[in-house]
Amino acid sequence: MASSQLPPPQLSERITRLTSSLVREILAAAQAPGMISFAGGLPSAEAMPLLRDMPHSHDWMSPVFQQYGQSEGEPILRARLADWLAECGMQVSPQQTLVLSGSQQGIDLAAKLFVDPGTPMLCEAPTYLAALQAFQLFGANCLGLPLTDDGIDPALLAQMIETHKPRAIYLIPTFQNPSGHCYSAENRRALAEVLDHYALPLIEDEPYRELMYDEVDRTPICSLLKRAPWIYLGSFSKTLWPGWRVGFLAASSDLFPHLLRLKQAGDLHTNRPGQIRVANWLACNERHQDLMNLRNTYRTKRDAMNNALTTTFGHLADWETPAGGLFFWLKLRNAKDTRPLLKIALEHNVVFMPGEAFYPASGEPAFGTMRLNFSHANADDMKKGLATLAKIFEEYK
Ligand SMILES: Cc1ncc(COP(=O)(O)O)c(C=O)c1O
Repeated sequence: MASSQLPPPQLSERITRLTSSLVREILAAAQAPGMISFAGGLPSAEAMPLLRDMPHSHDWMSPVFQQYGQSEGEPILRARLADWLAECGMQVSPQQTLVLSGSQQGIDLAAKLFVDPGTPMLCEAPTYLAALQAFQLFGANCLGLPLTDDGIDPALLAQMIETHKPRAIYLIPTFQNPSGHCYSAENRRALAEVLDHYALPLIEDEPYRELMYDEVDRTPICSLLKRAPWIYLGSFSKTLWPGWRVGFLAASSDLFPHLLRLKQAGDLHTNRPGQIRVANWLACNERHQDLMNLRNTYRTKRDAMNNALTTTFGHLADWETPAGGLFFWLKLRNAKDTRPLLKIALEHNVVFMPGEAFYPASGEPAFGTMRLNFSHANADDMKKGLATLAKIFEEYK
């Protein structure tokens, strides 16, 4: 039978909710030669640590690590993750850690753990697009909490919990994607109290934690919880190499066994050579210098972007200088939908992320926002690309 005569395959009902991520589509356009990209969150190759093997390193090429491994992850990596988390202020045992194929997998596991069709889930507005995509695939009704200068309003959080009875909340408190915000110490404590009061599970996602350029409080909210269940997600994609696909979670003991089984069902385990390379890096003395180099490189890029923005967008938009992470979040004074401008920008070989895309469907998007990445473009392209963008936005006015 010719394929045109075949009936269409029957797919699960959740496939109707599977949206293609705007970021992925824009990233494809951003690869075109000559394109100046402010769109993705790609780490800069010049900032990434050198790949080196130390004399004391475990041999990641050994046949042992080419075999199937444990779903939990390599014991040596789990032990070092517990030490690394202790440095971040989280007291967890290696048995509470689970190695992931990128922290994106942790979001997927959390979605499978909590979400049925119609389940209310709380998140920030705006929030990470691919988290919305993962929660919505399983039918979540994602309800957004507006970001304030401080974090999110604890009174509003309590009210949303009372009204909507959500099953969990997803937050990115440190150098948030897309806004670059970092929650204050007081806000972190106040939110932990509310979550404890309602025993609402927290999914805390921290891939940008190490990219800190100005000293700020980064206490994990999970470390402040006394009774609410929690999942803490971390990643080496922004500090080492995203292509290794090594991330991790730590979770409270009531959630951990379910997450482990979900991981097993999903991909058996994370790639072993990559895990060993991360474990080696965590044990090497050079890692402190690596992180310092990374921060210095990105701080210089951030400052260059801030200067270029001041000359090009100073009369068009307002923004805060992010203390860490990879993004500037611009609020245009002429608050119109920026999505139609993306096509015009692409015709001029510049690409940015319209801010409207980062809002959960249930609320009103804040029109006139955009996310600009500063890690990827070099200094000359940065100036040139921003001048082009500003001209497009000026004409739109
Ligand atoms: C907030 C957030 N969470 C998770 C991820 C996924 O990171 P990973 O490469 O560890 O899967 C990203 C990637 O950009 C992100 O911005």
